[in-house]
Amino acid sequence: MSKPSDQPSLRWEDNAIVTLDQRALPHERRLLRLDTVDDVVTAITTLAVRGAPSIGLAGALGVALSAYAHCPPGTGGGQQAVHADARRLAAARPTAVNLAWAVDRALGRLADGPDAVLAEATAMIDEDRAVNRQMVAHAVQAVLDRCPQRSLRLLTHCNTGRLATAAVGTALGTILALADAGKVTEVLVDETRPLLQGARLTAWELAEAGVPHRVCVDSAAAAAMSQGLVDCVLVGADRITARGDVANKIGTYALVIAAAHHGIPFIVVAPESSWDRSLVDGRDIVIEERAADEVTSYAEILTTPRGTRAYNPAFDVTPASLITAIVSEHGVHHASEARA
Ligand code: MRU
Repeated sequence: MSKPSDQPSLRWEDNAIVTLDQRALPHERRLLRLDTVDDVVTAITTLAVRGAPSIGLAGALGVALSAYAHCPPGTGGGQQAVHADARRLAAARPTAVNLAWAVDRALGRLADGPDAVLAEATAMIDEDRAVNRQMVAHAVQAVLDRCPQRSLRLLTHCNTGRLATAAVGTALGTILALADAGKVTEVLVDETRPLLQGARLTAWELAEAGVPHRVCVDSAAAAAMSQGLVDCVLVGADRITARGDVANKIGTYALVIAAAHHGIPFIVVAPESSWDRSLVDGRDIVIEERAADEVTSYAEILTTPRGTRAYNPAFDVTPASLITAIVSEHGVHHASEARA
């Protein structure tokens, strides 16, 4: 199995953020240089940078860009402008709590100057890498504890790998670790309409790692379960409430209902920074609605009658009661085995 790149998905280089432009994948490996807060906001809103942990890290580095722009070392002042930029960064996408959490954390060092803000943001990248490793170790065990099969058929949704984090990823990192241990027969990858994070990005990461996989349309997942092609479903999270309701990519809720119906373990893998304990009920999570043309056209070709309106939520909420286990760097947080 080839070793995928060990580089973090984003880094600080020559006073800018450098990242892989996820809009260009899988056909083009294009590096993107973000020099200003406007660049970072655009990259996050257009999903050049995406995935809850990655947008958090981009947001934190964005605060550093702002701090260097408005509070050069030794000058004093400019803090209000940085606070305004931080608000814009945190609001770029509303659902993943990691973004506001990371922006706030970086902003908390502003009084000590831009170097301190940057040090905090880069420390968060290193932390995310360590958190990935710990979380994956716990999640591998959580899967093996629940799936007695010698070799597993896994299903995943969206992209939760190294593009979405600073290291191996969450759910996809777990899948790659299981594959590395020789435990995976095949991964079914939901294409993840409308922006195709599964087809474009997860398939790219699995191919890079040499893991056998097939892409399916999202609506084939339930059929695959009914045909016995899925032993376990693994997904990530954008926000988890105190009682364990999980907001994740649109389509996750349909998957969990199908998995529950078929008695298939459904495991969420996400860092502590995805928990929002200020909320209890998942229905209180703000769900991002995106532009209609993501649904009404494909590759810029209109696929609906002109003027057709669209319902395009980017995320949905899965109730805790349907989730088998939620795994973080600290272990299994919530395990509802009742339906098994
Ligand atoms: O809109 P996206 O591509 O940013 O959505 C990403 C997801 O829903 C992921 O599952 C989630 O952020 C976890 S990434 C480790």
